[in-house]
Amino acid sequence: MSKIILTGDRPTGKLHLGHYVGSLRRRVQLQEQGGYDRMFVFMADVQALTDNADNPEKIRQSIVNVALDYLSAGLDPEKCTLYIQSQIPELTELTTYLMNLVTVSRLQRNPTVKTEIKMRNFEANIPVGFFCYPVSQAADITLFKATTVPAGEDQEPMLEQTRELVRRFNSTYGPVLVEPEIMLPESAIARRLPGTDGKEKMSKSLGNCIYLSDSADEVWRKVKGMYTDPTHLQVNDPGHVEGNAVFAYLDAFSTPQDFQDFLPEYQNLDELKDHYRHGGLGDMKCKKLLNNILNRLLDPIRQRRSEYQKDIPEIYNILRKGSESAREFAAQTMQEVRHAMRIDYFDDKEFIQEQQKLFNPE
Ligand code: TRP
Repeated sequence: MSKIILTGDRPTGKLHLGHYVGSLRRRVQLQEQGGYDRMFVFMADVQALTDNADNPEKIRQSIVNVALDYLSAGLDPEKCTLYIQSQIPELTELTTYLMNLVTVSRLQRNPTVKTEIKMRNFEANIPVGFFCYPVSQAADITLFKATTVPAGEDQEPMLEQTRELVRRFNSTYGPVLVEPEIMLPESAIARRLPGTDGKEKMSKSLGNCIYLSDSADEVWRKVKGMYTDPTHLQVNDPGHVEGNAVFAYLDAFSTPQDFQDFLPEYQNLDELKDHYRHGGLGDMKCKKLLNNILNRLLDPIRQRRSEYQKDIPEIYNILRKGSESAREFAAQTMQEVRHAMRIDYFDDKEFIQEQQKLFNPE
């Protein structure tokens, strides 16, 4: 069986370190490892519009930012098809057919949708498009016959819904679609990177993000202001690493090599944590280390970004070509879907002949 990797993001702003550890880093690794038949990464602008219908300009502006984030983080359009959801009309078509195979009450039980309805105060007035986005997401995945979907655990209900739809479609019309598997982030810290304020999650609406596009100065300003341990007032006070954002980030980003290069008096993070817990280690020293580590990570990303940024029309070109290539794949699946669903009227020459005979018996 072939291996097809597919994943996407809603383009509602530039990407931050939470996106990087949670998904982008993994995608680049997958891309470089090989061993797959196709890899698709797309911007889910149609999905973003389901709860931003009145703010299309935000989505439009985000496309180029997210594309620059993808490319500068190392996604390579030669190896990975980058495209924009709205440019694949076949997705809308498949969504329409899948909608016949799921009930309103099943959609109401989707836990991710439930939470989002609460978050957006949609309870009394749920837009139909928003309510149906899990079906549209099932189309995103199945149109490309994806087998492997790297995504966070909040996407598990979407994948479950997709697998149900695949089984339903295949048993009703014949085996065309493929059941996907989710590929979860590799560690707890990759699943949820806290914000610079120590709050549970890095998120644009909380204003606690370090963006991939932040300059070295911005990063240092944000690292200096990071939440640590409010009980660690004097250097000699014992400190807590749990709930301490600086240590959470060191968990997510530091390697033993970083210690050798930036802070050789410690072998590794465990030693640094021990010292912090016992007292005698100041926050500033930890923050400087983290700043060095983040810049080592972000410098090559910044460099690639400054190259890509010089030619913005070329970014759109890459996305246009990716969208064309994705559409070719999509058209192939849709042909199979239409055939299985008995709506390929003009392609079925035999059927036309049979009908000719039916209406004209000799
Ligand atoms: N729902 C995903 C998110 O909010 C984005 C998305 C849309 C997606 N379609 C997808 C992710 C298909 C994986 C596969 O981040």
